[in-house]
Amino acid sequence: MRVFVAGATGAIGRQLVPRLVAAGHEVHGMTRSESKQAMLHELGAVPVVADALDPDRVADAVARAKPDVIVHQLTAIGAVDMRHFERSFAETSRLRTEGTDYLLSAGRAVGVRRFVAQSNGAFAYARTGGAVKGEEDPLDPSPAREMRGTVAALRHLEEAVLGAEWTEGIVLRYGAFYGPGTSMAPSEAQFELIRQGKLPLIGDGGGVWSFIHVADAAEATVAAVEHGRRGVYNVVDDDPAPVAEWLPALAQTLGAKKPMHVPRFVGRLFAGAPVVVMMTELRGASNAKAKRELRWRPAHPSWRQGFAAA
Ligand SMILES: NC(=O)c1ccc[n+]([C@@H]2O[C@H](COP(=O)([O-])OP(=O)(O)OC[C@H]3O[C@@H](n4cnc5c(N)ncnc54)[C@H](OP(=O)(O)O)[C@@H]3O)[C@@H](O)[C@H]2O)c1
Repeated sequence: MRVFVAGATGAIGRQLVPRLVAAGHEVHGMTRSESKQAMLHELGAVPVVADALDPDRVADAVARAKPDVIVHQLTAIGAVDMRHFERSFAETSRLRTEGTDYLLSAGRAVGVRRFVAQSNGAFAYARTGGAVKGEEDPLDPSPAREMRGTVAALRHLEEAVLGAEWTEGIVLRYGAFYGPGTSMAPSEAQFELIRQGKLPLIGDGGGVWSFIHVADAAEATVAAVEHGRRGVYNVVDDDPAPVAEWLPALAQTLGAKKPMHVPRFVGRLFAGAPVVVMMTELRGASNAKAKRELRWRPAHPSWRQGFAAA
């Protein structure tokens, strides 16, 4: 198939493109930068230079590539300032709203068979009820004030993709990424924070996280491109776990001291509400549907071994 990947140079894109190429697909990879065309060549893709927020350029790029499938992996998260959460995610939210609409409209014009888009299964589920959520469970209907725009943008993306009746719209709710190219890898921001003992455990650390190695996320994405059905798939590992469990374990893996403990109000004061939510209220996700329907298995079934291999 001809596959158009928006976000081809990113953490997930760099894992995804070579796997699509190895599976025999012709990949067209989008970037904003002329200078990243060489990287895309090396990954085996035809480089396409366009800004995802310029609808005419996107329409033109997609029309030239004439893809069977579009994969939307656009984010612009960079270094997150947790005290200014919405500001840190503002550009990503635009990519998830406007960016999604432009890609869908470009895809419709050439009649793409499938449209696969990145959503989030780690931070966006409702923070009530069971600890581990399935795809039918709702996204958070009342996010913390500081996270509302971010969750609204994910909701927009999901509704737009699933509502596109002219194509097979597929939403992949990825777990929290770790591994090469992500901020959870040796010497990268999150691992460094933990290695230096700068990430305390807040409250009871009862927030449940679902992780996914970025290579496993790419494998599941290839399966979705090839034989996914309209709908949502959680792409997470087999081992959702509370922060109180994974944070000390990761600190130990990194040779750091046991994380300090601070009460919720101190966490809120110094780190802001989103961090408190993430440490104490998140819910995890189940990968049963992706395993069953995409016939996919994560090579890193648990962060317990995965972090050490990152
Ligand atoms: N589920 C998760 O846990 C999750 C999800 C997403 C990201 N993250 C993490 O967040 C960190 C940073 O991610 P990131 O989003 O900053 O960077 P990233 O991994 O570099 O990916 C961003 C991709 O989107 C493209 N892009 C962004 N804005 C664009 C635009 N206006 N037009 C065209 N393409 C555009 C970039 O292309 P060019 O730069 O080449 O133009 C790049 O390919 C990483 O650690 C990543 O793992 C985690």
